[in-house]
Amino acid sequence: MTKVLITGIAGLLGSHFSRYLLKDGYDVVGIDDFSGGYRENLPEGVFCSTLNLADFDAVDKFFKEQKFDYVYHFAAYAAEGLSPFIRTFNYTNNVIASANLITASINYDVKKFIFTSSNGVYGEENTPPFVETMQPKPIDPYGIAKYAVEMDLKNAYEQFGLNYSIIRPHNVIGIYQNIWDRYRNVIGIWIRQTLHHEPLTVYGDGLQKRAFSDMVYYNEPFEKLMTEFSGEIFNLGADKETSLIECAKLVQKCAENFGFKPEIIHLEPRVEAKYAYADHSKAKRLLGFEDKTDLERTVNRMFEWAITQPDREVKTMSYETTKNLYSYWKG
Ligand SMILES: NC(=O)c1ccc[n+]([C@@H]2O[C@H](COP(=O)([O-])OP(=O)(O)OC[C@H]3O[C@@H](n4cnc5c(N)ncnc54)[C@H](O)[C@@H]3O)[C@@H](O)[C@H]2O)c1
Repeated sequence: MTKVLITGIAGLLGSHFSRYLLKDGYDVVGIDDFSGGYRENLPEGVFCSTLNLADFDAVDKFFKEQKFDYVYHFAAYAAEGLSPFIRTFNYTNNVIASANLITASINYDVKKFIFTSSNGVYGEENTPPFVETMQPKPIDPYGIAKYAVEMDLKNAYEQFGLNYSIIRPHNVIGIYQNIWDRYRNVIGIWIRQTLHHEPLTVYGDGLQKRAFSDMVYYNEPFEKLMTEFSGEIFNLGADKETSLIECAKLVQKCAENFGFKPEIIHLEPRVEAKYAYADHSKAKRLLGFEDKTDLERTVNRMFEWAITQPDREVKTMSYETTKNLYSYWKG
C-alpha cells in the first residue's frame, strides 16, 4: 500500500486531501501541531502525530519509524500580512520546518515531495496575471520563506535526487478553514464576525481584487502530482476575480439565509497587493485542473458548517515587533 505523509493535515488543504486519498485507498498518515488546525478536522481513524516540524529530532525519528513513499507538505503559518511582525515565527514554521522535512525525505528515500508554496512569491514587481515562468520577487517574509523552500527543493533534487513538484495556490476556501484566526482567511473572518453579531471589516476601500476557489477542486490535481511532473511549478486557483467589497456583500447576502444581518465597515488599509491574480493554463492543460467554484454556494456551505462548530477562542499572536502594527491588530 502506498504510504503518504500529509503535513498540516488538520488544516484546510490537509483535511480535504487526506479524506480524498483515504477514499482512493492510500495509507495516509498526518503530522500537525494544531497551532492553526483543529483535531475535529481530521478524517476518522487517521493517525496524526502531534509534532512540531521545527523539531529536527522529532521529524527524523518519525520518518525512521514510518517509511513514507510520498510527502505532501502543507503545514505552514500562512498569515502573509502579519509575517513582517512575526519574522522569526514565520521563518521557523515556514522555512526551518520545511528544511527538516526535506532532510528527512532525503535520508529516508521519499519518492517525491509535493510542496504548497504560494502566489505570494511573485511580489508586486511582477505584473499580473502571474505565470510560473516569472522570476519571483517576494515582498514580505511569508513570500520570502516560500521562495526559499522552492529553491531549497531544487537543490535537494540536484544534489540528492529528491523529486518534487511545487504548487502555488491562492485564496482557497472551504469548510474546515480556520475562521477563528484574526489575521488571515478573509471570508472565514467575515463568517466568524457574522456569527458573533459583529460588523464585517474591510481593510481600506475594498477595491482590492481576489479570486477565491473552493478546495474541493484541488484534490485531483494534487493526486496527479504524486507521480507526475517532477520539477514543475503550477499556479492553482480561480480565474474569476471579485473586489473584496463585492465579496463582503455576498457574505452579507448569505448571512441572511442564516438569520444574520451584518453591516460592513472599513478599517485602515494595510500593506497588500491590490491585484494578485494568476494564470492557470498550465495546471488546466497538464493536470486537468478545472475550477467550478460558485462563490455563493461555497460561502453558504461554509456558514452551514460554521454554525455547527464550537465558538473557539480568537487568539492574539505574540508580536516580535509592534512598530507600524495596524491599529486593529493592537490589543
Ligand atoms: N489556503 C490558501 O488560500 C493558501 C494560499 C496559498 C498557499 N497556501 C499554502 O497551502 C498550505 C496549506 O494551507 P491551509 O490553508 O490548509 O493552511 P491551514 O492553516 O489551514 O493549515 C496548516 C496546518 O499546518 C499546521 N502547522 C503549522 N505549523 C506547523 C508546525 N510547525 N508543525 C506542525 N504543524 C504545523 C497547522 O496547525 C494547520 O493545521 C500552506 O503551506 C499555505 O501556505 C494556502
